[in-house]
Amino acid sequence: MSDTQSFIGKHRDLLDTPALLIDLDILDDNIQNMADYFSGISTDLRPHLKTHKNPIIAQKQIDAGAIGITCAKLGEAEAVVDFGIQDVLIANQIVGPQKIERLINLADRSRIMVAVDCSENVQDISDAAKSKGVTVRILIEVNIGMNRCGVEPGNDVLELAKHICDSPNLVFEGLMGYEGHIVARTSKDDREKAVKNDMQHLVDSKKLLTENGISVNIMSGGGTGTYDITSRIPEMTEIQAGSYVFMDSTYNRVEGLDKKFENSLSLLTTIVSRPQPKRIIVDAGMKVLTTEFGNPQPIGYSDLEMVGLSEEHGKLEASNDSINLKPGEKIKLLPTHCCTTVNLHDKCYGIRNEIVEYCWDITARGKAQ
Ligand SMILES: Cc1ncc(COP(=O)(O)O)c(C=O)c1O
Repeated sequence: MSDTQSFIGKHRDLLDTPALLIDLDILDDNIQNMADYFSGISTDLRPHLKTHKNPIIAQKQIDAGAIGITCAKLGEAEAVVDFGIQDVLIANQIVGPQKIERLINLADRSRIMVAVDCSENVQDISDAAKSKGVTVRILIEVNIGMNRCGVEPGNDVLELAKHICDSPNLVFEGLMGYEGHIVARTSKDDREKAVKNDMQHLVDSKKLLTENGISVNIMSGGGTGTYDITSRIPEMTEIQAGSYVFMDSTYNRVEGLDKKFENSLSLLTTIVSRPQPKRIIVDAGMKVLTTEFGNPQPIGYSDLEMVGLSEEHGKLEASNDSINLKPGEKIKLLPTHCCTTVNLHDKCYGIRNEIVEYCWDITARGKAQ
């Protein structure tokens, strides 16, 4: 039995730290709440793997009703297809001969779908698919205002769609537009207005294709902050939300989500030093936590604040001397960004009623290629 497996059945405080914890009851509730929402409408859920990077959790989402999985990278898609999940969207451009060869190999053993936004890439994927004798399903990514990847709405989308339809071994499935510039806006009203405005570009692009005799079967987009807005646009067929399974302190501030999804992810740390009454140091720094959205904060200690991280240390400041914590004791931290935090860890521990139930490998962690 490996060291990590030997913790199963024991109290979580016996785990060595830093250790990534998942509260299994909350995880199950988050998955079920999202599934319940989608069971009541005609749009489907295709959750994003990038949050948990774990095919076991992806399978739970599918068992609850999701139609497939969204990935950002080929390596993630390979991990879920290896696990046995077939319907996978890579919501990203796969460019260059090495990667296209891997894409074609995946197409040979799954219902892989990939986003494109330029003609050369379409040509390359078609050529490779033809020489291997496989078919690749294609979505055109449209820039609906995030200004990341994506064809500009309008005639460019039509021209690219015609090219795909005329290309051997490609199946044109539809359009994708991700409103990443809107998902974390705190005001629901603001999100609603922005989604209505920006997703109209995707809707108009669909109309243009349909008027030109090209059928658009799939309209994909949406994240955790907009799932219940974007999914109500009648043209949308699927939503790519990811963070809802874990949540984090950044998404906690997004109005409306707090009532639906709770924090299932935390990092268990050990206090390694209290050199001053008001300074407490934990064994978790920027090699196990991310800070692009701010410092993670202790759970359950309102008089303690994380004021800085170095590589392997987290520095907490207490607002009073009387706080009762000493070296060797454990506290949990709440990540500010669940997706990038998970990617720093090889394993996570599933906890129920404070007891370790599972140790899972985070299979697709670091699969950035
Ligand atoms: C293309 C795409 N779709 C969906 C999502 C899901 O976002 P969220 O984590 O807000 O649910 C992301 C997040 O980065 C994304 O890049």
